[in-house]
Amino acid sequence: MTSSTGASECYVYVTLPGETKFVTAGKFKLTTDRRGISTGKFVYGRSYLARENAVPIDPLELKLSTRTYETNILKGVFGSLRDSSPDYWGRRVIEKHTRQAQLGEIDYLLYSPDDRAGALGFGLNQEPPAPRRQFNQTMQLERLQALVDSIIADEDLPVGADAEQAQDLMLDGTSMGGARPKVVVEDNEGLWIAKFNHPDDQWNNARVEHAMLMLARECGLQTSESRVTTIGERDVLLVKRFDRENTDTGYRRARMLSALTLLRAEDSQQDRDKWSYVLFAEELRRISSQPRTDAPELFRRMCFNALISNADDHPRNHAVVAMAMDWKLSPAYDLTPSTPISIERRDLALGCGDMGRYAHAENLLSQSARFLLEPDEAKRAIDEMEQDIRNKWYDIARAEGVAEKDCEKIAGAFAYPGFRLETSV
Ligand SMILES: Nc1ncnc2c1ncn2[C@@H]1O[C@H](COP(=O)(O)OP(=O)(O)O)[C@@H](O)[C@H]1O
Ligand SMILES: [Mg+2]
Repeated sequence: MTSSTGASECYVYVTLPGETKFVTAGKFKLTTDRRGISTGKFVYGRSYLARENAVPIDPLELKLSTRTYETNILKGVFGSLRDSSPDYWGRRVIEKHTRQAQLGEIDYLLYSPDDRAGALGFGLNQEPPAPRRQFNQTMQLERLQALVDSIIADEDLPVGADAEQAQDLMLDGTSMGGARPKVVVEDNEGLWIAKFNHPDDQWNNARVEHAMLMLARECGLQTSESRVTTIGERDVLLVKRFDRENTDTGYRRARMLSALTLLRAEDSQQDRDKWSYVLFAEELRRISSQPRTDAPELFRRMCFNALISNADDHPRNHAVVAMAMDWKLSPAYDLTPSTPISIERRDLALGCGDMGRYAHAENLLSQSARFLLEPDEAKRAIDEMEQDIRNKWYDIARAEGVAEKDCEKIAGAFAYPGFRLETSV
């Protein structure tokens, strides 16, 4: 049995652009005072700063410098590091594995395996570990699905030698963020995130999420590649990882930052005023090497989310990536419709204009200049997207295997009446 490492500091490793091995970038230290306030400190190593090809972990918050950076937000864990940490699902798996109810933030970083989002790694040794060569294979999905089931049911994991191996398998594929049950698996094309259906789901999520990615692609958005595979009687969504590139010598890794990190926001309700597409567009324009492409793309994603009633479009469901030196908006992922009772007013998770989070055409148009669009371009983008979604969602959903009864359940999500409701503003 493993337990809390009790560590209050760790080394941070990074895979540099074009490389497949970690180098040590710096050291992260976390302290909590008597009032319970946590402070994180990060300092780059001198030998890292001396590298010609050194890159900043976060080009806005942690620029290459000899200074010691400090933060108090996100429990003292810099956003760029927190983005590499597991969320609800991965933490649950680690807690099951270690048989501990709760662990320290550094423990979650240290326990999560080397398949996390982005290019960072963490460890207690100054010398970084060699890259992982072995990953769970798509062939093992059936076994993994059974383990996922027992974790969801909060059953004890089976004991015995074989079961231990199975636990390790499970732990070896769960450091991605997000709340849905998932594991990372490999096939001869590369690495995928396998997202499993949950017994509480209102519809077949694997099929519906895949159909939403296809619909988004049809509407001209850049999306993650996906497919559905069936294990036994059950569907599993496979989403190709855009932060890994398979090469003869191993995987290249893209650095990755969530919109939550770019917005310097907390995950909690109190920080909701910072959760905004408009502010995200501003940050994106600062960090992106192609703002004229990315800012309008973000605008269209916001419109797409409004038109499929995606209320789960929170700031961890948007990211920027850097496979080489340059940063850009990541492909879209985690697109899910919802069907709130109200047909007059639905809100997105992020503010989108002068009327706050209201998923309404006029609201979306109100700040279009910040997304580098002329008013007539923005209006045309919304009109086309509305038509495309209205006309295509059903055929795409059916073609991708969404059952008729599930189509009935999600029908109310698309181009809801409130999107064009007459407003007094
Ligand atoms: N295609 C992808 N490539 C790389 N990272 C991804 C990809 N899709 C999602 N992620 C990362 O994994 C996290 C969890 O995935 P997500 O689909 O959002 O799961 P959930 O439905 O549980 O929120 C995301 O927050 C993001 O950091
Ligand atoms: Mg998500």
